[in-house]
Amino acid sequence: MKIAVAGTGYVGLVTGVALAHIGHNVTCVDVDLEKINLMKQGISPIYEKDLENLMEINKERLNYTTNYKEAYQDADVIFIGVGTPEKEDGSANLDYLYMVLDQIVNSLKKDVVIVIKSTVPIGTNDEVEIYINNKIKSGIKVMVVSNPEFLAQGTAVHDTLYATRIVIGVEDEKAKKIMTTLYEPLTKEPYNVPLLVMDRKSAEMVKYASNDFLALKISYMNELANFAEKIGADISLVANGMSYDPRIGNKFLNSGIGYGGSCFPKDTKALYFSSKLYNSEIKTIGACIEVNENQKIILFKKLKEKFKNLENFQIAILGLTFKPGTDDVREAPALVNAKLLLKEKVIIKAYDPIGVSNFNHTLFNDVSMTNYKEQISYYNTIEDTIKDCQAVLIMTEWPEIKEFDLKKYESLMAKPYIFDGRNCYDLKNISKYAIYYNSIGRKVIDNCKEKISL
Ligand code: UDX
Repeated sequence: MKIAVAGTGYVGLVTGVALAHIGHNVTCVDVDLEKINLMKQGISPIYEKDLENLMEINKERLNYTTNYKEAYQDADVIFIGVGTPEKEDGSANLDYLYMVLDQIVNSLKKDVVIVIKSTVPIGTNDEVEIYINNKIKSGIKVMVVSNPEFLAQGTAVHDTLYATRIVIGVEDEKAKKIMTTLYEPLTKEPYNVPLLVMDRKSAEMVKYASNDFLALKISYMNELANFAEKIGADISLVANGMSYDPRIGNKFLNSGIGYGGSCFPKDTKALYFSSKLYNSEIKTIGACIEVNENQKIILFKKLKEKFKNLENFQIAILGLTFKPGTDDVREAPALVNAKLLLKEKVIIKAYDPIGVSNFNHTLFNDVSMTNYKEQISYYNTIEDTIKDCQAVLIMTEWPEIKEFDLKKYESLMAKPYIFDGRNCYDLKNISKYAIYYNSIGRKVIDNCKEKISL
């Protein structure tokens, strides 16, 4: 089957490469020539485990181009995996989607299935079908299919090939046949992915319902963690105790500094916005969003509570990306905390194994931050970052941060004050050191004074 994929971000590129891996001929289309040239050389423009390897293995079946006309007019199926970022009001911005749809309309010469992989508000697939059919030449049949994506960054390739499920929302028998044939290899050994066929609106809703449920789980655990701190319980033990109930499960129970990334923040807001629009406000999601906004700045609040005035403090931020295993900083808690700290006249020393360039770019893309450039510097090692700092904020649970030798906090900092937003260290272990350790939902260990008195 000849496939074109519009957009070469996390969803588009990974989908294209995975489809080539199961035997299809795929042309990946992007407007960004620089990205296309990189991919032609076998280089992935995004950091994602196994992706370049699969690009290499399947290079015979993969093409990359900015020439959308050629790609779309030849394709049997066109996947759309462009971004649908949030607008000011929380609703989804569909500009990129409609830009691609216009390009498709201008290119088509034969019947085609258009598959919307981008996360779009419920009802968008129906609207897209009407939009296209109003514009297309008569005699060409366009079938619109919803096929939401459930991949997580860092494990995107695995999540696509060994998906938990493939959801297909379809209203047309021919399109249903094409889609089931296309995905057939993934439903068999060694992948054995369940394939669920349903109507388009339900398929669109599965995506929001799943992401928002996971976000809700995190916000719930974060609120419990804040309460546990007040009452003297340990949220890690609570989460472990909960996890033995198979109805609850043992995933997404980690409390911390809130969820970030390209999906949960925007998908919660989009569903909430949409529910209000239909006069059917989903109150749990509204609360989940509010809890997350507060949780993102919890370390800043703890720091302020401890030190009151932070002016001229030298503070280390360990971890800048929204989670480990990715260089993505979208909605990363480190960004909002860095902004608050810089405005308090703090000197920031920052470390991240791969996210520095994205972080710096995003931080200073905000024009209100231009005057703070001199206050932040980046280091290649944790040792250099924490040296002579008055406090450390842990924002991302990178393995190198979790495995860092705790003795070095003692030796490199005059008074090791650690505020850990990801509960990286075991409380019993950290108690052996002359460290002040304030994590999430667990008791504060305050052994720093002992060192001062030594
Ligand atoms: C998510 C979904 O997992 C994926 O199915 C969907 O397609 C896209 O959105 P992703 O954003 O890549 O994927 O990351 P994920 O691993 O789900 O983490 C999202 C955020 O939740 C991160 O900021 C992470 O730190 C946070 N998180 C996750 C917690 O705070 N606690 C947890 O227990 C799990």
